[in-house]
Amino acid sequence: MRSFLTEAQVKFLLNYISDGIQIVNSEGVLVYCNRQAAMQDDINISESIGKHITEVYPSLLQEESTLLHVIESKEPILNKDQTYRTYKGKDVTTVNSTLPILEKGEIQGAIEISKNITEYKELSERYLDLQSQVQENVGGLRPSKVKKSYYNFEDIITDNAEFNRMKTIAMKAARTDIPVLVYGETGTGKELLTQAIHNSSKRRNKPFIAQNCAALPNALLEGILFGTTKGGFTGAVDRQGLFELADGGTLFLDEINSMPVELQAKLLRVLQDGKLRRIGDSKERYVDVRIIAACNIEPNLALEQGLIRRDLYYRLNTVTLWIPKLSDRREDIPLLTKYFISKYNNKLYRNVQGVSKEVDALFMRYDWGGNVRELEHVIEGAINFVETPEIGIIDLPPNLRRFYDSIEPEKDQIGFCIGFEGIDNLNEILEMTERRVIENALLRHRGNVTKTARQLKIPRQTLQYKLKKYHLEPESDE
Ligand SMILES: Nc1ncnc2c1ncn2[C@@H]1O[C@H](COP(=O)(O)OP(=O)(O)OP(=O)(O)O)[C@@H](O)[C@H]1O
Ligand SMILES: [Mg+2]
Repeated sequence: MRSFLTEAQVKFLLNYISDGIQIVNSEGVLVYCNRQAAMQDDINISESIGKHITEVYPSLLQEESTLLHVIESKEPILNKDQTYRTYKGKDVTTVNSTLPILEKGEIQGAIEISKNITEYKELSERYLDLQSQVQENVGGLRPSKVKKSYYNFEDIITDNAEFNRMKTIAMKAARTDIPVLVYGETGTGKELLTQAIHNSSKRRNKPFIAQNCAALPNALLEGILFGTTKGGFTGAVDRQGLFELADGGTLFLDEINSMPVELQAKLLRVLQDGKLRRIGDSKERYVDVRIIAACNIEPNLALEQGLIRRDLYYRLNTVTLWIPKLSDRREDIPLLTKYFISKYNNKLYRNVQGVSKEVDALFMRYDWGGNVRELEHVIEGAINFVETPEIGIIDLPPNLRRFYDSIEPEKDQIGFCIGFEGIDNLNEILEMTERRVIENALLRHRGNVTKTARQLKIPRQTLQYKLKKYHLEPESDE
């Protein structure tokens, strides 16, 4: 097929991409270098083309060059991180992929694509330094002060039986040191639950540190978690990683499914015998850290796709907490709505009374892809703007208003305004309401009929009859 672009056009375009690109021929002579590569390595393009790669980089040893290595082996080297010093004394960290250029099996040369992650590295090191400063400050504070910034089990609002079951398991797990795996869609409350575990454990006065494994380039994550030693690589200094900073406390590893599998092996070692080694260090150090890991895809899927090592998974899943998504626990929507209205009334000095019937019904139908976080933001936004005592459709963000418009025809149905859309018969609505009220009260009294009847202010026999009618099962009577 004839090439669509000329060679000059390709070269022109390659100057505008943010990765560095270098190409050597089969002798190791540099034949192409784009602007980004020249900039990050402090080299002059016209002076460097035509020279052997070891001449372009005098401090580079022949056996260290990934380009020369690939020419020799004809095998690609992917995502290898490298830290080096340019002749101007600048320390650069890159992640490189080096590929052989083959024609009919014969090596023609090699191409290296490098991503400059120096700034990320500096930022992450600054983050570690700040974390250790925070820990020092926290150490000086009274424990009650430290605890205040964190969530507890009482802050997790739910009336859902499954979620309550998870909360009970989490409370039990909090009394132990066993690792915990939390799964839930975005915004379901994974971090909330994790903090609650930490704050009701014996570690509550020690650090709680959260690290998102997807937030950093792989090459940096290892240093952040395990620390570095002077001389471990160019420019490395002695620095504690998050494991050491969290000593005695809890380390929350969010999006564990994004952690490179080689690093997962190192994590497993810490989990098994509490030992770790900083990068470039020969010394082993002991840490006492409780690990809570979160997964934002189903753990068994992560396992199937090879995103989580099997041995690590078995170590982590002794306690697995699945948080149901909001659309699977709609009974929590009115509860959370009330809770967030009160939270933002206090925060924003407002006195909003509630939501209109239409909003109430809309919330019960909407599918809440962003789960509780989305609901919280919707309410926070509405409280900022609402001018009536109740939040109306007009105060909602455009996507929810559009959704309201799309269900226009159903709004004429009698049940719509109270969340019984599709039902056009008063008796049925009344029965369903009665069932919901009884079910809720029964749950609150853990299946105790006497207490439930007392709260509902109906005779015990009447309640027994209704339980039978609605196929609800009491647990005990005492
Ligand atoms: N059951 C709940 N009760 C009260 N607030 C909640 C509840 N669930 C979540 N929230 C609130 O929703 C927001 C999101 O919760 P959190 O950060 O724990 O979610 P997440 O599962 O970690 O999400 P992501 O996967 O996106 O990180 C927080 O502001 C939290 O306070
Ligand atoms: Mg989170």
